[in-house]
Amino acid sequence: GVGDRVWLALAAYQRANSGSAQEYAMLPAERVFLLPANASFDQGASLGVPAITAYRALTVAEDGPWRLHPGALTGKVVLVAGGAGAVGHAAIQLARWAGASVITTVSGPAKAALATAAGAQHVLTYTDPDVVARIRAIAPDGVDLIVEVAPAQNARLDLAVIRNRGSIAVYANNGGDQVTLDVRQHFSLSVRYQFVLLYTVGADVIRAAAEAINAALVDGALAVGEEAGLPLHRTDLAHTADAHALVESGVVGKVLIDVSVGFAPAA
Ligand SMILES: NC(=O)c1ccc[n+]([C@@H]2O[C@H](COP(=O)([O-])OP(=O)(O)OC[C@H]3O[C@@H](n4cnc5c(N)ncnc54)[C@H](OP(=O)(O)O)[C@@H]3O)[C@@H](O)[C@H]2O)c1
Repeated sequence: GVGDRVWLALAAYQRANSGSAQEYAMLPAERVFLLPANASFDQGASLGVPAITAYRALTVAEDGPWRLHPGALTGKVVLVAGGAGAVGHAAIQLARWAGASVITTVSGPAKAALATAAGAQHVLTYTDPDVVARIRAIAPDGVDLIVEVAPAQNARLDLAVIRNRGSIAVYANNGGDQVTLDVRQHFSLSVRYQFVLLYTVGADVIRAAAEAINAALVDGALAVGEEAGLPLHRTDLAHTADAHALVESGVVGKVLIDVSVGFAPAA
């Protein structure tokens, strides 16, 4: 209704005029979700792409779960590659909310601090020559699910730590487009590779993701800001190009655009 606080997904997809860097926008209702009363606009602005992508990656495993809720991942070990990234951050938070034990890999200490703040119980450095042994020490039978940002670089690591019937959900091509897989070793473990792109996952997945994300918001499980592992950087509408430049420069965290100067959010 009028005045409802909302968050968006796929705002500008096939609708160039519907992008969210403007004060007023018209969107199809299925791309708009009520923002729970306890959630901030900063959270709402940070969700659309990363949290839905993370949700999908966490719900594609052969043995489920197909939906996330508290307890859905209890007893499972999830490996999140790149836990200081925006998607990685959301994956850690959603996996923890659902009860998983979360291992994440990062490039160094600053990102390790962020991934720890996000809630990962085990934070490792992916360049550590002993990273496989360290993961095996935490998960002797292997990890159940891998949320993968850099398959070209991590395919060997992933094979070395995935358990029988485990799944590897790939949502990005950081570090390269080509992956070489040892076919025999993968089929020997009945491993599943699942690729994920928000634009093609389908409306039913987006809807289910939004419901779960809202439940996690109500539970306070999707905090943002440096203290929660996701630094926020701000510009206003007049400096939208700066926001793009910041993203292109590889800034750590989310870049938010305040769309209305002097606008005071109600909550
Ligand atoms: N499939 C989809 O629907 C979808 C949705 C959202 C985003 N994406 C894509 O996903 C990627 C990440 O997006 P984002 O917003 O999360 O970006 P981001 O905030 O830049 O995060 C990427 C993270 O990956 C880490 N990383 C890079 N190489 C790695 C490796 N070999 N092992 C472990 N971690 C590694 C980076 O840290 P270091 O470089 O320090 O390691 C960084 O923290 C982008 O390519 C984006 O286009 C895809």
